[in-house]
Amino acid sequence: MREEPKDRFPRDNDGYYIYDIANTHLSQDYERYTPEDHKVWQILYERQMKNLPGKVTADYLRGIEQIKFVADHIPNFAETNQILTSLTGWRVYVVPGLIPTKAFFELMRDRNFCATTWLRTMSQLDYLEEPDMFHDVFGHVPLLTNQNLCDFLVKLSQIALKHIDSPVALEAIARIYWFTVEFGLIQEPEGLRIYGAGIVSSSGETEYSLFDSTPERVPFDVKTLINTPYRKDAYQARYFVISSFEQLYNSIGEIEREIDALVEQALAIVM
Ligand SMILES: [Fe+2]
Repeated sequence: MREEPKDRFPRDNDGYYIYDIANTHLSQDYERYTPEDHKVWQILYERQMKNLPGKVTADYLRGIEQIKFVADHIPNFAETNQILTSLTGWRVYVVPGLIPTKAFFELMRDRNFCATTWLRTMSQLDYLEEPDMFHDVFGHVPLLTNQNLCDFLVKLSQIALKHIDSPVALEAIARIYWFTVEFGLIQEPEGLRIYGAGIVSSSGETEYSLFDSTPERVPFDVKTLINTPYRKDAYQARYFVISSFEQLYNSIGEIEREIDALVEQALAIVM
């Protein structure tokens, strides 16, 4: 049985792992993946790589080639990081799972993308209660080759850290992260495409977000987005569509102004 970081540390009531993050260096322990782990990766990888062309942003497909993910084995983070660091200065940083918000944003500000190392089992292919490595790595890492998205994440982390003691600011940041990096759509010249990792790593939501008549698809707008609650237990009711990753990066000034204003309003109510 592999001992994963997720089995080594206690969690608080909200499910956040509690450990000395600054002084604990976790690694992937690649040799301990079993043939079945690699097989699970292969099934998920092949299924989604067959499904994604024509549905995912061109930058994702370019990114997955650049970082050399393949079907027949789980990515080795040491190799991934060499490539990723040379492209955008980012690296995959091993965590056991959810970590406290401040530490998460401090790591992200320093261009560390937090990822778990455990993979779902064969019997959990389509249902998971929390993100595993397929989500964190297959879903997120290819787009960490996109400089605009990377720079957006650094700036967003800086705003989060500036307001780390403000629950209203953190909720707004969570919504922004959710409706872009996790569940964002992009309008490309060839058509509507997905880029959010929560969709990219889910074959069901790939179809639903693009083609189902139920959800709303609205242009990316900071104010509207901050006022839209998200759903963790079901497909989204609303998706936000960016026109380019540059647009996303360029929205950071407005995001900061909106969040500063929210924090001021909240303080005025208290006083
Ligand atoms: Fe994610």
